Amino acid sequence: MKKYFLLLALLVGMTVSACGTDDETPIPQEPSTEQPGGGDDDNGGGNDDDETPDPVKPTPGTNGRYLVLFTSRTGNTERMAEAIRTTLDCDLLEVEPAVAFDDDYQGMLERAREELAGIRNGNYPAIKTSVESLDDYDVVFVGYPIWHGSMATPMQTFLHEHAAKLAGKRIALFASSGSSPISTSVSEARALCPDADFTETLHLTSSTLSQIQSHIASWLERLGLGKEDDDNNNEPDMNTNRISIKAGSTTFTATLVDNSSTRALKELLAEGDLTISMSDYGNMEKVGPIGRSLPRNDENITTQAGDLILYQGNSFVIYYAPNTWSFTRLGHIDGATRENLLAALGSGSVTVTLSLE
Ligand SMILES: Cc1cc2nc3c(=O)[nH]c(=O)nc-3n(C[C@H](O)[C@H](O)[C@H](O)COP(=O)(O)O)c2cc1C
Repeated sequence: MKKYFLLLALLVGMTVSACGTDDETPIPQEPSTEQPGGGDDDNGGGNDDDETPDPVKPTPGTNGRYLVLFTSRTGNTERMAEAIRTTLDCDLLEVEPAVAFDDDYQGMLERAREELAGIRNGNYPAIKTSVESLDDYDVVFVGYPIWHGSMATPMQTFLHEHAAKLAGKRIALFASSGSSPISTSVSEARALCPDADFTETLHLTSSTLSQIQSHIASWLERLGLGKEDDDNNNEPDMNTNRISIKAGSTTFTATLVDNSSTRALKELLAEGDLTISMSDYGNMEKVGPIGRSLPRNDENITTQAGDLILYQGNSFVIYYAPNTWSFTRLGHIDGATRENLLAALGSGSVTVTLSLE
């Protein structure tokens, strides 16, 4: 059971009695705060070593490329996990032990010591959490507290049981501790998942846990990860000056000039693709209604094949031959010639679809 109520007391009060090294781990002190609730933990399950837990689904975010896994007894690592999840708006999953964490700190220290010794002999304590697939994730964040200098045991079990699914994945480790370093746990993770690609880690201690949000933000920035990094994000890029024009089986790309007409056109395309029914006019152009008026920036122009023109503010024109008139330049189709335009647009009417690139 999570100890939200203890969180502040732990952050403020936690001290570590010995500096410790990776060999000789420190024994942290926990304040003798009363445990809330007491007794509603699910302690009854026992260590179901032989049972594989049923796969669970992470709590989904809108960004399906990242998964944040965490285990946490008193909420510190969970807060780090939450900060990553909210920053990236991604999936989140808690890795829970089959037997709930001990409320009693001394009991938990002893249990952790035994479980870590068991892991060194290949006996991984059972966990409740397993996932069917990690295929969809580009980056998996793995968070845990440091216990006796090591990665907390439930996460070691999770990595052990999911090593094959994590092969080739980019893994970003994050951890919290009183003061002990993250280094031993990084070696443990590498040994547990030898085929994963480990990236820069984040480690917060009792003196830095009060600035979780800023530490997470700069870490994610260093990793080059952010909401805007999401390829699955279908938000159109309004900074682009490129559109595509699809006619039948041919798709042209075009480069827009920058004026209030093209900015309004891009806003229109940001709402969705625009399909225009065009007819041939004067053996020099295809012209069709946009369906709304855009700002005009008319000037005297002699067109070339491939020029995109706004006519009278509400008609979209593709020129395939020269014409001189006062109208608004929108842009030009890349690599256009009279021949390749006519091959795609035909000699009569044609329907084209405009999209932001
Ligand atoms: C069993 C156990 C062992 C711990 N061992 C260490 C340790 O070796 N070094 C350390 O600095 N902190 C140690 N701590 C303190 C935790 O790493 C620290 O409080 C951490 O932030 C707890 O994270 P959590 O709130 O996500 O459970 C230990 C805590 C527990 C419960």
